[in-house]
Amino acid sequence: MAERHLELGLFAPTVGSMPPAGKPGAFLLSHAEQRTEPTFDYNLRLARMLDRAGLELFFMAQRGGKGFGPSRFWGTSLDSFTTASALAMATEQLQLVSTVHTAFFHPGLVARIGATLDQISHGRWRLNIVSGWAENDFRMLDIPLIEHDARYRRSAEFVEVLGKFWTEDWFDYAGEYYTIRQGTCAPKPASPPLLYNAGSSAAGREFAARYCDWFFTAALTPEAVKEEIADVQARAATYGRRLRIVTYALTMCRETEAAAKQEMEDILAQGDYDAAREFLEGISGQTLGTTKSVLGEGRALDDMLKSLVLGVGSSKLIGPPEKVAHDIARLHEAGVDAIGLTFRHTEEELADFIQRVVPLLEQHGVRRPRQTPAARVAD
Ligand SMILES: Cc1cc2nc3c(=O)[nH]c(=O)nc-3n(C[C@H](O)[C@H](O)[C@H](O)COP(=O)(O)O)c2cc1C
Repeated sequence: MAERHLELGLFAPTVGSMPPAGKPGAFLLSHAEQRTEPTFDYNLRLARMLDRAGLELFFMAQRGGKGFGPSRFWGTSLDSFTTASALAMATEQLQLVSTVHTAFFHPGLVARIGATLDQISHGRWRLNIVSGWAENDFRMLDIPLIEHDARYRRSAEFVEVLGKFWTEDWFDYAGEYYTIRQGTCAPKPASPPLLYNAGSSAAGREFAARYCDWFFTAALTPEAVKEEIADVQARAATYGRRLRIVTYALTMCRETEAAAKQEMEDILAQGDYDAAREFLEGISGQTLGTTKSVLGEGRALDDMLKSLVLGVGSSKLIGPPEKVAHDIARLHEAGVDAIGLTFRHTEEELADFIQRVVPLLEQHGVRRPRQTPAARVAD
């Protein structure tokens, strides 16, 4: 029986597609119907449901620009700072993770936003650091997309400056990307908010190992997860640090495995392969290692596109509740400390997951039982 408590929640549908270009949807690059809306009101209902159920994680990506393909997949993205602010007022225990692109924000500004969110959320706010990769986002704002590893060097300086604003007064900083004179930020957070990173390249892992508290693995299987964790923890150990590990997973909990697989086939048959191809070209052209480690080494283009269609390259949790719980337990045993779930029809499927899968995880010792299980989904 595992002793660590597995945190669960959502890789939230604050990013997605909206009409007129696409149909509403968030994580499936498919024309198949998706009853998921990347709107604030919808995400508010999800956050409240998670909070009542005692689930922990509300992870918000942040995108910009026009999205991918003619359908403009991921062309809509709520701002993850202002969304976190509103959700902090609507929830009591949920951890809210915002994402910042280091190329688009100044760390002095983010320090103040973060200090304010720390007060509003009473310490429940966290920050995912991304260095950027989608050329369109940069082109739109006329911000140069500098070379891959240089982006991580800028992110490193960003985090150093951010940390100083959160803990020091009247500091000076002279870096390649930032110069700060007599830096000060008041208020300061009660303690520095935890940092996340999802880089899969060597530079990305090194950045996470040295500067972050949580590493987001996009590896597909428990075996690959284990390998990636061993690598990133070895890097962290050289800095005397240890990371916690989070991943994301498309969850399709159905009465039978056959029904779930059939549904996957239907989604694939209606796949938005134009958007998937553009997404893949963008991310593999701009990152070192993403195609290999996010979508699997040596895999055929076709497989990679299918993996993108089904949950944007995440691992899959597919089948009846017992099978889904079993696969979650395997990820946990492989070293995963938290999972951001994604769904086809998020609101209804999350409610079902809370009722049918979470109790199994508690029985198996993957999660500590809640005190009031009856209140899980009820309003
Ligand atoms: C779970 C997850 C969340 C991510 N969130 C964002 C995001 O919000 N915005 C973004 O531009 N990139 C996001 N990325 C992309 C990463 O920041 C990074 O560019 C990508 O994983 C490639 O890493 P690499 O450049 O180290 O190869 C995310 C990746 C993953 C796996």
